[in-house]
Amino acid sequence: MAVNAAERTAMDRALHLAARGPRGANPQVGAVILSPDGTVLAEGWHHGAGTPHAEVDALSKLAPGEAEGATAVVTLEPCNHTGRTGPCAVALIEAGISRVVYALDDPGAVSGGGAERLRTAGVEVESGEQADAAHALIAGWLTAQRLGRPHITVKWAQSLDGRAAADDGSSRWITGSAARTDVHHRRAAADAIVVGTGTVLSDDPALTARDGDALHPHQPIPVIIGTRPTPAAAAVHRHPQTPLFFDTRDLHAVAADLHARGVQSVFVEGGPTLASAFIAAGLADRVLAYIAPVLLGGRRLALTEIGVGSIGEARRLVVDEWVPLGEDLLAVAHPADAADPAQTTNPQSEGAA
Ligand SMILES: NC(=O)c1ccc[n+]([C@@H]2O[C@H](COP(=O)([O-])OP(=O)(O)OC[C@H]3O[C@@H](n4cnc5c(N)ncnc54)[C@H](OP(=O)(O)O)[C@@H]3O)[C@@H](O)[C@H]2O)c1
Repeated sequence: MAVNAAERTAMDRALHLAARGPRGANPQVGAVILSPDGTVLAEGWHHGAGTPHAEVDALSKLAPGEAEGATAVVTLEPCNHTGRTGPCAVALIEAGISRVVYALDDPGAVSGGGAERLRTAGVEVESGEQADAAHALIAGWLTAQRLGRPHITVKWAQSLDGRAAADDGSSRWITGSAARTDVHHRRAAADAIVVGTGTVLSDDPALTARDGDALHPHQPIPVIIGTRPTPAAAAVHRHPQTPLFFDTRDLHAVAADLHARGVQSVFVEGGPTLASAFIAAGLADRVLAYIAPVLLGGRRLALTEIGVGSIGEARRLVVDEWVPLGEDLLAVAHPADAADPAQTTNPQSEGAA
């Protein structure tokens, strides 16, 4: 049976409810339970890892037997595995739900398969309703699931001759105000902003996302990587988010730790050493190079050691966009040899846990 008008309206509502949940280790999901005549019986959404999933949250608001013959409208395929909570497909079957309409398939290798389980139990299932909107809502989570770590952008500002700082280490400012405004917008869209101890010790950056003097409503978590201590008076200690300090140079371990904390996107703004280390480790999904019409000469190259010994080993990029920003030019690029993340399912992924 095709999706009807009441179900479509309920999906709008479920998407709205989903957005109330926190962005984190689990996806944002919303659910609406409809009676056979299309009346809304209950609503629910996922409040974060370890709490009931959206369908179960909605069912919990109904008396026993009240969901008998009802329709569940959900933004993500009901899960089929026991994590910290039981399988939602089973909860729906046991509640007597007779029809499920959902937007997106669950990409988790372990948690997927809920639709099949429902069908086997005789529940009617329709998928794909407003899938694009549901995808847009949890795009960051889906990418992090596929990669098994956060999506990582490595950014730097450079002179036309490829330097990240003048010979004495000063680098403020290589680019103009339009480029810096663009950086702050992109910081505000990231979950975490990462620098090495070298940048903290030389520049003492605030690592906030600002609009002029005002702070953006969303602030990325500041992350400092490196074995040297950060001074107690460093500006990063005054950041609205509690900074994370990683006393290590193991970037894969840092990426795994951030993933476990629910960080889905990372903006690396370190100096040349850290930017190069991320690229060398194969941990740069996107590169942003802000190129300014200025010459600096000297030793402070934008990148240092990235594991390229000869031209055959060059790390080729595909430029997605050249963006003029005042006098400067931004290259937005990704590695040419990157597997299309859309095609790669992470076998470790458990989906909504
Ligand atoms: N143009 C730009 O976009 C830009 C941006 C930021 C900074 N800068 C300039 O860059 C200079 C600072 O450069 P930098 O390279 O020292 O800063 P950095 O890249 O931010 O920090 C380097 C430090 O990162 C730590 N680190 C963590 N993981 C590492 C790994 N896997 N491999 C190597 N090191 C790792 C090390 O610290 P430990 O030694 O403590 O272990 C290393 O010394 C300053 O002049 C600053 O003004 C320019």
